[in-house]
Amino acid sequence: MKAWTILPMVLALAACSPKRPPVGVQGDPERGKIAVTQYACQSCHLIPGVPGSKVYVGRPLSDMARRKLLAGALPADQAGLVRWIRDPQSVDPDTAMPNMGVSERDALDISAYLLTR
Ligand code: HEC
Repeated sequence: MKAWTILPMVLALAACSPKRPPVGVQGDPERGKIAVTQYACQSCHLIPGVPGSKVYVGRPLSDMARRKLLAGALPADQAGLVRWIRDPQSVDPDTAMPNMGVSERDALDISAYLLTR
């Protein structure tokens, strides 16, 4: 095979490969992306890579890996994300985000997805 036939294939593959989660992040970001749509998080949040509402109730969930705080109260690491996603009222009893009964595994995968955006 000639180099010019291989190059486009290599580029296509590189474009498809999912972004790797930051070191130390557990869970499966690809599964997390699916879980986000199953729980319909995008109905209240702008989420990069997930088509959804342009008028959102909560803040956009972009650049999560660069955040310091969640909801102004919790460290924005994976443990903080899992806790918030599973039970926001345990952090802020008055928050408008509902407890959606997210399982531990789904919360881990969703947080992995958000941390790769
Ligand atoms: C009914 C609307 C609604 C739904 C559905 C919803 N959220 Fe939220 N979410 C909110 C609101 C409102 C806040 C802001 C909470 C606050 O600051 O008190 C929030 C905050 C957050 C935050 C913290 C953001 C920040 O900037 O600090 C994360 C992370 C989050 N939501 C993730 C999710 C995930 C993941 C799902 C799906 C499992 C989800 N949310 C579903 C309304 C919603």
